[in-house]
This record gives sequence, structure tokens and C-alpha cells, in this order.
Amino acid sequence: MPSAYDPLMARARDLAILESVASLVGYDERTSMPSRAANWRAEQNSYLARLLHERATDPQIGLLLNEATDDVKSQPADSEQRANVREMQREYDRAVKLPGDFVAEMSRTTSLAEHAWAEARKENSFAKFQPWLEKIVSLKRREAGYIGTTTGNPYDALLDAYEPGEVSANVARVFDALRPRLVELLGKVVGSSRKAPIEIFERTYPKTLQQQFARIAAEAVGFDFSAGRIDESVHPFCSGMAPGDTRMTTRYDENSFGDAFFGTLHETGHALYEQGLPKEPHAGQPIASSISLGIHESQSRLWENIVGRSRAFWQFMLPKAKDIFGPTIADVTLDQWHFAANHVQPSFIRVEADEFTYNLHIMLRFELEQALIGGQLEAADVPSAWNERFKKQIGLDVPTDAMGCLQDVHWSAGLFGYFATYALGNLYAAQFYEQARKDLGDLDAMFARGEFAPLLGWLRSNIHKHGKRYRAADLVQRVTGRALSADPLMTYLWSKASALYGV
Ligand code: CO
Repeated sequence: MPSAYDPLMARARDLAILESVASLVGYDERTSMPSRAANWRAEQNSYLARLLHERATDPQIGLLLNEATDDVKSQPADSEQRANVREMQREYDRAVKLPGDFVAEMSRTTSLAEHAWAEARKENSFAKFQPWLEKIVSLKRREAGYIGTTTGNPYDALLDAYEPGEVSANVARVFDALRPRLVELLGKVVGSSRKAPIEIFERTYPKTLQQQFARIAAEAVGFDFSAGRIDESVHPFCSGMAPGDTRMTTRYDENSFGDAFFGTLHETGHALYEQGLPKEPHAGQPIASSISLGIHESQSRLWENIVGRSRAFWQFMLPKAKDIFGPTIADVTLDQWHFAANHVQPSFIRVEADEFTYNLHIMLRFELEQALIGGQLEAADVPSAWNERFKKQIGLDVPTDAMGCLQDVHWSAGLFGYFATYALGNLYAAQFYEQARKDLGDLDAMFARGEFAPLLGWLRSNIHKHGKRYRAADLVQRVTGRALSADPLMTYLWSKASALYGV
């Protein structure tokens, strides 16, 4: 055993423990904290962020890394130990570039800004959020400057935090290729004379019954409730905060079946990935974490959309829904329900967007973020820039900022560079699923029988169990035999569109 490796992994474990504490505090903040505790919570967050940063930038880690890098260099590039050292080096290099005061300020600001955003959105007042956005944009510009890039685009420094190794020029190339194909298909679907019976999803679905049903679905696809739970929050999310503790949240609307259900299935997809990551003896090591947010999102979108909106899934689940919701949906047929689950209509809210328009929402944010970080756009001009692009790219007049630039939590939380990973996730998901079908055969027949374990097992052994051993691009190549392409997503969407909308 190499001499510096074990002490280095002990450091990694300490950092992971501290991080999981910060994550628990953050989870509480979003799910159960009384609003008057916000100021003190911001102090707690800031204190923990500074402490974590101090520990993560301890020069001793740098020395251990130098030695360990040397020790493991004769091993294969994707060996567990080399991957751990490589990822720890990456984290260390990023962390030492940021001053501790800056990290604490960022944490305090975003913690307060998130609460300001929630109020601003509720009151539909961009003016209330604007000073916070200005502050955060200026902090993120500073952060991009500290981190630096080799591409000349400061935004890449932020993107790299979420999608290691990815650069905006490449993302833009993928998006540019995808956009005209999506717009063409969307036009055909929207112009179709066939309309989804959305009225079915707009009946009254009592919250307690929705909770029961979401739980049944999460359990059916393999979520382990003895190692996780579901709570409520304004903005649904999943937190794999610790081994044996994967938590997700959802929000309920009694007049909409889809929001909470598909939201929960989405977070369940994230949660299944977290539950499938390497555990002891690797807990706390870099290799026990996810590759990137794009790969993470591929897991959520796969379960939410490709599985959860398939006819076969509902062949199994609709009878269970009828047991729970009783007379509300007694009259509904499988075909009607399946069509309602695949209603396509350009709309304002990203998290409610159908699969055909979703990526257009992302492209808009991706462009605005680059302009904000690059200095071509200022916070004050975000609403007009948003509305103008929305009209041009999605074809609708945005009625209020709450339905426009105030809808997402991300910017208040300082998560610039994050949105692009959602669209990458859609692309990865379709490509992985195409391969899973080749490898496993008739998945639809399995879903119709309620058998989701074969697919989950495939995801576990091809993706989850590797943790952070590979970069996203390498994993895609390894699992599917080719580089990321928009073709699988477009093939999938065309086949759905032709079955349901006759295009
Ligand atoms: Co997600």
C-alpha cells in the first residue's frame, strides 16, 4: 500500500463527514426551518463553508497529493486509487484558488439571497431580488476570475464545477445541433390535430393520496426507504447527504396530478443513483461520489420521462393509481392516461415543461448566464432579456417575472453553470437507455409486469457502481460505444410523437 495514499483518504473522509453535516443543515433549511431563523442559518452555513474550505486547502493535503500521485502513477489510469488521487487533486486545485473570506461571503450571500428570492417570486417582484442578483453575479464573476480557464471564456470555470471537463463551446455546439431538430419536431406536434386529454390530470387529487401514490411508485422502481425519505420544499431536490441517507423533496398541487408525481419520480432517479454509488469501504472517498450533474440528471430524466411516461409503465401503475384515487379516475383508460402524461404544449415554467420543449428552456438560460458572467448583460436587464428571448425561442409572451426570470432557485443559490447539465442529462439519458434496450431486450414487457429491477441493475453495474472513476464523456463512450450524440434523444422523441400525435 502506497504510503501517502491512506492518510490522504483519511483526509477525504474527514472532509466528506463535514460536508455531510453542512448538507444536513442545508436540507433542514429548505424543508423545515422557520423563516425567522434565516439570518442565523446563514451564519451557520457561512461558518461551515469557511471551516470546510480551511480543511480542504490544508497545505498538508497538497504535500500528501504530491507523494500519492507519484505512488499511484504505475497503476492503470482508471484504477480506483488513481481516480481517487486525480479527483482529490482536482478539488484541491480549485479550492486553493479561492480565498477563505470569499468562500464565506459567497455562502452567507447565497443563503440570504435564496430566502429573498422565495419572497420576490411569491410577490412577483424582480425589484426585490435585483440587488441580490447583482451581488451574486459580481461574486460569481470574481470566482470565475480566481479559478481561471484555458478557453478564454470565464463561464467555463463555473461550468467545470458541475460538469468536470466540459466547456461551453462544446455544449453550445451540441445545443446548436439540437435546436433546429427540436423546433421542427415541436412544430409538428403542436400542429397535430390530436390533443392530449389533459383534463384528466387537472382533476382533484388530495395531497395525502398523492403522497401515498408517489411513495408506491418510488418503492416500485427500487428506492430504498430504509436509506432515505421524501419531504416537501418549495423547489424539489434530492440530497445524497451521507451513506444510508438519501433524501428528496417534492411539492404538491391538488389540481395537478403530474407536478408532484413526475417531480417525485425525477428525484427518485437522482436518489437511485445516490443509493447505488460505492459505499464502505469507499464512503467519503472521491470515487464514492457522482461523476457530474449531467450524469446525475440523466438518471432522473430516465426514470421520470423515458420510463415514467411510457405506456408500459402505466400498464402496471394505472391500476394502482385507480386503487388510490378511486372514483376520480375510474373512467380513465390506459391510452388516455398515457396521452395525458405526454401532453406537449410550450409553456412558461421549466420544471413543468414537456420533454419536447424542455431543452429550449435550458438553452435560453445557458445563453443568459454566459452573458451575465461575461459582462455583456447586467442583472437589471435580466427580465427584458429573458422575455425577449422567450418570445423569440419559445414563442410566448411572458406575463410576469414570477413566470419568467424569477421562477428558478438556481441564481439565488449561486448555481451559475448548472442549467446546461439538465439538457446534457436528457441527451445522456436517451443514449444510455438506447443501450440498455439493446442489452436487456424488451424493457416494456418487463415494466408492464412491474419489473424495474433489470433496468436498475443495468444502471447500477454500468453507471452507479463506478462512482467518479470516469469522466462523463469517457463513461458515455464506454457504456454506449460512442460519443454523446443528439440522435438517440431525437429518435426517442420522434417515436413518441408518431405514436401519440401521429406525426
Ligand atoms: Co434533477
